[in-house]
Amino acid sequence: MPPSTQHDLRAALTRERYPRSSGYDPEWIVERPMGPHPLWCIESLMEVLTLEPGMRVLDLGCGAAVSSVFLAREYGVEVWAADLWTDPTDNWERIRTWDVANRVHPIRADARELPFARGFFDAVISIGSYHYFGTESRYLAHLLEFLKPHGSVGVVMPGLDHDPGPTLPPYLAERWTPDLFTWLSPDWWRNHWERTELVDVAIAEMIPGGWDDWLQWLKACDLIDRGYAPDANMLEADRGELLGLVRLVARRR
Ligand SMILES: C[S@@+](CC[C@H](N)C(=O)[O-])C[C@H]1O[C@@H](n2cnc3c(N)ncnc32)[C@H](O)[C@@H]1O
Repeated sequence: MPPSTQHDLRAALTRERYPRSSGYDPEWIVERPMGPHPLWCIESLMEVLTLEPGMRVLDLGCGAAVSSVFLAREYGVEVWAADLWTDPTDNWERIRTWDVANRVHPIRADARELPFARGFFDAVISIGSYHYFGTESRYLAHLLEFLKPHGSVGVVMPGLDHDPGPTLPPYLAERWTPDLFTWLSPDWWRNHWERTELVDVAIAEMIPGGWDDWLQWLKACDLIDRGYAPDANMLEADRGELLGLVRLVARRR
């Protein structure tokens, strides 16, 4: 990568609000972009979630395990980096380039059939992934089997500030494919979880500035031709009215 692109990439991915994320090599972060910026998402989740060193944490739908490495390094937790589509051997190669190889364990797993001991985890986090499987009404009950009583679940994912009703704005209507049907509001998620009576929901909200974070990330990825124009155009058209990032934190009863 030319030095000028390196410079622009670092500038685009440095945000005062996310000082811990700024300490990571931008080229490593953008190697395999999938959803919104995984480090900004996990750092904003950690504004409202507490993890203690030594805790066992499941990073569910970890993708390239960027958030898994971050949690192990920044908070001293032990992380199981579980994903369905990403090869765990690739993730192991990436994990081993950091000083956390003894604390981040890559595994291929389907969130709907988790291969862990019951009550094993102190916390489950999920970045940009939970909406792929978590809308199913029985899903939370399945996930909680693997979490200790009073353990925490923390999620960040794309979503909508509120239900747009039957008439979608044109920029959403033209992209209204099944991938977007599960972009839902914080209120939707709160109700979806609370009605199970299995958890107490502490946080269900749009991340302040989440729309801007997402757009800025796509623009940064574009610097190395890894942006995604349909999402960037949709976000630009939205101007932060509906689209953004939802964060949820709940505690198992
Ligand atoms: C948009 S990517 C986000 C990845 C990563 N957390 C990040 O923020 O870059 C969504 C991830 O969800 C994972 N995923 C989707 N369905 C899954 C399932 N049923 N079980 C486990 N992972 C799943 C995919 O493998 C993919 O890596």
